[in-house]
Amino acid sequence: MHKIIERTDVAPDTVMFRIEAPMVARKAQPGHFVIIRIDDDGERIPLSLAEWHREDGWIRLIVQGVGYTTKRLNAMTVGDALLDVVGPLGRRTELPENDTLVVIGGGYGAGAVLPNAREARAQGRRVIGIIGARTKDLVLVEDDMRSICDDTYITTNDGSYGIKGFVTHALEPLLETETIGAILAVGPVPMMRAVSDLTREKQIPTIVSLNAVMVDGTGMCGGCRVTVGGETKFACFHGPDFDGHQVNYDELVLRQKMYAAQEKAALDHSCKIDEQVATLT
Ligand SMILES: Cc1cc2nc3c(=O)[nH]c(=O)nc-3n(C[C@H](O)[C@H](O)[C@H](O)COP(=O)(O)OP(=O)(O)OC[C@H]3O[C@@H](n4cnc5c(N)ncnc54)[C@H](O)[C@@H]3O)c2cc1C
Ligand code: FES
Repeated sequence: MHKIIERTDVAPDTVMFRIEAPMVARKAQPGHFVIIRIDDDGERIPLSLAEWHREDGWIRLIVQGVGYTTKRLNAMTVGDALLDVVGPLGRRTELPENDTLVVIGGGYGAGAVLPNAREARAQGRRVIGIIGARTKDLVLVEDDMRSICDDTYITTNDGSYGIKGFVTHALEPLLETETIGAILAVGPVPMMRAVSDLTREKQIPTIVSLNAVMVDGTGMCGGCRVTVGGETKFACFHGPDFDGHQVNYDELVLRQKMYAAQEKAALDHSCKIDEQVATLT
């Protein structure tokens, strides 16, 4: 069992957890993720490592409540425990060792890029952070990003905080003023695609983390199949990081929606149970 040792609500429907997972913490590297299961009946879901502590044996996760399992997880509190935390999974991020690194995070991706930003900073590289969110309340890990990066930019779609617009509105001027060695973008597919489109012509190495639907996380089930550079890859095993200029994003989006009907049914069912419990108590 893996005890929750800290829980902080960091945005609406978004929770930061510190969880006991000494084996994972011991081997974790930037870009790795875990697959968790809340209990025996639980679905397996992948979550990125935002931080870890090897000696104290904990990992930090940032969870956006988007469906049945993530909402159940976000209802858990300090002292509760997860049945399984499997990992670290995936390959560590391989970033070109050129100078300036730009890390771009949207949604939970803002937490997922932190380990690479920390590592690059420790290597003495210049690191620029960009966090994108729909609105001010949804901006995640701003303090972490500012403490790691030389410069940090925030963008909000509605202009309620930072630059109005998308992460590309912060990135575009940097492409003119900075000599960028590599870009790491983690977040919703449209964001990763837009960043890759912007950097393709300038041939700036752009790494994206593919959030394909995963089941076993070891390359056995084929659930997370993606196409990169015309070749079939398994996001859990060959990735999740890939060359953003080579990804077939249309296919990724289609495959992400494959179980939409079942996901809706699971969420509706759990809402009905919650209502019944509420009327009995
Ligand atoms: C490598 C990787 C790292 C991730 N890191 C984080 C993270 O740090 N924080 C975070 O909040 N989310 C993260 N996600 C996304 C997270 O796994 C999904 O939001 C979660 O599985 C949704 O499950 P659900 O039951 O709550 O919602 P559902 O209603 O079941 O699904 C909502 C949407 O999430 C996606 N999804 C559903 N099941 C899976 C699955 N088994 N694997 C992958 N995607 C799925 C689908 O696109 C689906 O449409 C990551 C995904 C991947 C692949
Ligand atoms: S999750 Fe099964 S092959 Fe990747």
